Formats: sequence, C-alpha cells, structure tokens
Amino acid sequence: MAKVKAIVLAGGKGTRMKSELPKVLHKIYDKCIIDYVCDACKEAKIKDTYVIVGHKHEMVEEHLKNKKNIKCILQKDQLGTGHAAMQAKDYIEDDDYVFVINGDQPLISSQTIKSLISFCKQGNYGGAVLSAIIDHPGSLGRIIRDSFGNLNRIVERKDCNEEEERVNEINIGVYCFKGKLLKDSFGKLDDNNAQNEYYITDIPYHIKDMGYNFGVYAIADISEYQGINSREELSIATATLLDKTRKQHMNNGVTLIDPSSTYISLNVKIGKDTIIYPGTHIQGDTVIGENCIIGPNSHIISSKIGNNVVVETSKITESTIMDNCKIGPFAHIRPKSNINENVKVGSFAETKNVNIGENTKIPHLIYTGDADIGKNVEIACGCITANMNTKWEKNRTVIKDGAFVGCNSALLAPVTIGENSIVGAGSTITEDVPDNSLAIAREKQITKKDYLKK
Ligand code: UD1
Ligand code: CA
Repeated sequence: MAKVKAIVLAGGKGTRMKSELPKVLHKIYDKCIIDYVCDACKEAKIKDTYVIVGHKHEMVEEHLKNKKNIKCILQKDQLGTGHAAMQAKDYIEDDDYVFVINGDQPLISSQTIKSLISFCKQGNYGGAVLSAIIDHPGSLGRIIRDSFGNLNRIVERKDCNEEEERVNEINIGVYCFKGKLLKDSFGKLDDNNAQNEYYITDIPYHIKDMGYNFGVYAIADISEYQGINSREELSIATATLLDKTRKQHMNNGVTLIDPSSTYISLNVKIGKDTIIYPGTHIQGDTVIGENCIIGPNSHIISSKIGNNVVVETSKITESTIMDNCKIGPFAHIRPKSNINENVKVGSFAETKNVNIGENTKIPHLIYTGDADIGKNVEIACGCITANMNTKWEKNRTVIKDGAFVGCNSALLAPVTIGENSIVGAGSTITEDVPDNSLAIAREKQITKKDYLKK
C-alpha cells in the first residue's frame, strides 16, 4: 500500500511577525503553531513528518527534538516554498503520497487532511490542492480554473493580472502530491516570478504538463483557512480556535456561563453537566468529569479532575483530583498532587508532590509538600510540612489515617504522625509520633499574675 508522508514548510523568516522568535514557535493560546500542524498530521495517521527548518532553525529543532516520527531538514537559504519542499526529496519514494502543508496554517484539522488525501487518491489525480472561497483574498495565491472548471494554475497575488486578482478562490497552502510526480516537478521549478522565488504553487502546472489531472478540493469548514503572517492574524486564528472549542464543549453538554471569558485548549475533555464560570482557563490535556463546578477565575493545567468536583478561584497544575472534592477558593495545587475522593483543600492551602487520602480536610492556610497524608485526616489552620533540611534536601512527611494536626504546627520532615494521633496546636514536631498518641511540642505558658498592676 502506498505510504503517506508529510512535509511541513517552516523555514521562512516570518518577517511580518516582527519577532525574535521564529513564527512557528509563536503560540495560539497555549500551544505553538508548529505543534498544531504536526499534531494534525499525526492524528491523520501520517507516520513520517518532515519539517523544513531554516530561519533560526536551532530553536525549532530544539522545540521538536522529543517528538516522535518528526525529522527536521535544514533549508540553508530561504529561496521559496518550492525550494523548501525540495529539501525533503531524498525521503520521498515514487509511490508515496506526499502531503505538504505550510507550517503557518495551524487550523487545518486532521479530518481535512484525511479528506484531501482520499480525494487525491480516489480521483486518481497527480496531486490536489485545498482551496477556499473568501470575501477578501488579499495577498493569497489565486486558484485559476479553465473553462471546464478544472485547475489551470495557481497564481501568486504579486504575479496576478487584474482579472486574476479579482478571483476569490484562494490557495490555502495545503497540498497532496503523488511522490514521483512531485520529485519530477522539482527539477522544473524556476524563480522567474515577481518574488524571484521557487514556488510550490508552480508544481500543479508541471504535473498537469506531464499529462495528469490536478484536483482542487474546496475546504468544508471555511474557518480552517486562516494562515498566520502577522500578530493580527495570530489573534484572529486564536479567536477562531477558542470559539470552535467552546462550541464543541457546549454541544457536548457543558455549560459555559460566559463563553467569551472562558479559555479552553484544543485537547481538553470535559464531562456533561459541568458548569464553567467566567475567567477560567483550562489548558494542556486536562480531563474534567461530569457535574463539576469550575471557576470563577480558575486555572487548570494538564490535570485530571473527577466527577462532582468544585474548583473555585484556584490554580491546579499537573495533578489528579478525584470525585467529590472541593478545591478553593484560593487553593494552589502544584504538580504531582494526588488528591483522593471527598477531600477539601480550602482557602490559601498549597499542595505539591503529595498524596492525600479520602475524606481528609486541609481547610485553610496550609502548606503540604512532599507528604503522604492518609484518610480522614484533619490539618488545622496554619500548619506546614517543612520538607527542606539545612542541606537543601527534601524529605517526606507521613501523616497516617485519622490523625489530627492542631493549628499552627510545623512538621519537620522526615517525620511520621501515627494513626489516630493528635498533634497539639502550635507544636514543632521533629520526632515520629506513634499511633494513638498525643504529641505537644511547645513552650509551657508562663502567666505572670497582676504583672501590669506593678
Ligand atoms: C503561500 C502560497 C500562497 C498561499 C499562502 C497561504 C507560495 C508561493 N504561496 O504564500 O499561494 O495562498 O501560502 O497561506 O507558496 N517557507 C519555507 N522556506 C521558504 C519560504 C517559505 O520554509 O524559503 C515556509 C514558511 O515558513 C511558511 C510557508 O513556507 O510557513 C509559507 O510561506 P509564506 O512566505 O508564508 O507564503 P505566503 O506568502 O503566505
Ligand atoms: Ca503564509
């Protein structure tokens, strides 16, 4: 079976961004432009993706270095999109299908990629290009058709005559080619045009010249066409993507009280009957269950939240919160916090690298870091687990099931509080407390009677 490979063109300067950062490393909300493109290729089941890098290539290579099945290929001089695609020539087999996408087209969905490829295969075309009909074609390349409605050629705006300029069907910068025909066309490209560049947009002309049909596939969802050349287009793409994501969640049964002030990234999953209040950001690959109340003003990053959880005005990063928990207001759940069912983490409580058992309460002004806290534990106001010793080493605190830690206590790790034990308020605990015990570690009170009368 013919293999499909992808070439992502990402070597250009991105001059119009006016930035020190390569264009494809700019972010749409919380994810880089290049990652949207590469992830869509991956979701479309394309195994090998070749990213053409050039301008500030080290930064792009560094960004992509841990991604599977992605190979960066250097285009030393940026001589145009055709010249960029040509750099991947040695990786293309004759019977491959080659999907090519401009690296600055992040809104193209995996569904569109799949549709374009099957359109190309089923129509037995030498290649196919994705097009859109838009009101203001601006600087985009025009799709010029012949009197039968077939593709004649793609003409860049700067090379258009007046009639061509009026055409409002545009080239999105997304193509599929038969491997051999693409390779054969590379040798025929020239830079005899207004920008003195080797255009990929000339390849359809050469493929047709070799006696093949070249298909034009009109995009199903017009909102995907937006490319990014400037900060303004970046903001348009961001708004488009956020809006689409919000609608998807609402269609799935999630209430967004004020969609415009609710920011959800593409890969987030949310269960039905969850209600999201304004000012909330949900990012990364967060999964939220059903019947939760999230927000107002909460920020959740790459975390897993169960069902019936309330998160009020809090930040949660790379953590797990199980069913029926109540987080906040003003809680800070830092990475590697595993919080079991029915736990309350209240106002100004911070957790980090902890395991917290069922029904435990850490209601206010508490820091628990590097700790294993059991079930049915209650930690009163103002307590901390002091994890760092004088050598800057971190140690764990263990608080076993049913223990109670009185207010304003410091537990100096490594230390263990036994099952059902009580730590008296204001204690600084440096030694382990056995099960079923009471530990008090504070100065005895001195009361000087009638002291002020003297
Ligand atoms: C290109 C198309 C245009 C289309 C538009 C859609 C050409 C000649 N024109 O124009 O028909 O309507 O996209 O957005 O292809 N790149 C390289 N190396 C280079 C030059 C560019 O890797 O030498 C990369 C860029 O980083 C970018 C992509 O190719 O990601 C497209 O280049 P860009 O200069 O943005 O092309 P457009 O002018 O937008
Ligand atoms: Ca572009």
